[in-house]
Amino acid sequence: MADISHSSWETELERISRSAAESVSAAATLESVEEVRVSLLGRKGSLTAMLKALKDLPLEEKRRCGPQANTLRDSLQQALDARRTELERAGTEAALSGARIDLTLPAAPMPRGRLHPITRTIREITGALSQLGFSLADGPLIETERYNFEALNIPAEHPARDMQDTFYLAGTRTPLLLRTHTSPVQVRWMEKHAPPVRIIAPGRVFRHEAVDASHSAVFHQIEGLYVDKRVTMADLKWTLTAFLRKLFGPKTAMRFHPSYFPFTEPSAEVFVSCLLCGGKGCPVCKRSGWIEMLGAGLVNPAVLRNVGYDPERWSGFAFGVGVERIALLRYGIPDIRLLYENDLRFLEQFGP
Ligand code: DAH
Repeated sequence: MADISHSSWETELERISRSAAESVSAAATLESVEEVRVSLLGRKGSLTAMLKALKDLPLEEKRRCGPQANTLRDSLQQALDARRTELERAGTEAALSGARIDLTLPAAPMPRGRLHPITRTIREITGALSQLGFSLADGPLIETERYNFEALNIPAEHPARDMQDTFYLAGTRTPLLLRTHTSPVQVRWMEKHAPPVRIIAPGRVFRHEAVDASHSAVFHQIEGLYVDKRVTMADLKWTLTAFLRKLFGPKTAMRFHPSYFPFTEPSAEVFVSCLLCGGKGCPVCKRSGWIEMLGAGLVNPAVLRNVGYDPERWSGFAFGVGVERIALLRYGIPDIRLLYENDLRFLEQFGP
């Protein structure tokens, strides 16, 4: 009796094993793999029923058949998993093969990048000046005293050095500093190039300064330098008028005030008619109708001599513009610190 029961139990197990192998490989979808799993290993599955029936077998049979049934259950589980992975992979490949890609679907929105207002302002200024024949130059942010001061006619004991609150680098044998203006690029360029010269040099500058709504310790300038034969104040005025009108519009008026810079002689402070009120007077121009825009002058012959140019043959003009100042005015930004915080709510207000 036990023998019969055992043999019929074993035959049934074999039958399940064979038909299971067939149905697993015949399953063509993930759903049918799941159906096969339920029919074998589910609560009412055929193998589950066999495992339940084990307990009615005599002890000895139980010992022999139990492991067989467990092995079959494990191998079926593995076969089902393998088939599922295979179908999933095939499905992904089919989806990627292009047959199922709907090209008419709208694309997922891509966030659009924008230029920083400082970058935009620099591009507008250099763009206007390139049209006048100036080309771009640049120089290092870390400078020596010679390029930042001495060659520009600012000797060690000169009071102009007090105007420049300078960051020096610690622990260098010869003093190194963060450039306080873009003017050293003038010297570097002239040392390496024979005249005539027409360059503009935008870049970062550094001053040991308390930060507030209108001051930053790191900001940007654009330097301009023009050297040729018989260059005069008239050339400077013509060039700056053309440049400022390109930048601010053809009605912009300009005013020169005498000033002092060691590297120019004569020197001037240049004002433009207020961008906001057009000269009528408003809070931005402090009711004067004028806004200070840049420093400029004729290159001091001492500077030309320092770079090996003969001041009897060559003369030139130079100017320096503060980029932040223009950006604040142009975009009506009330606080310079907004430019450096990289708050997207601020930056997203500026077009591409
Ligand atoms: N370097 C000056 C500064 O940082 C700005 C300047 C004034 C530059 C007059 C010039 C110039 O080239 O001619 O304050």
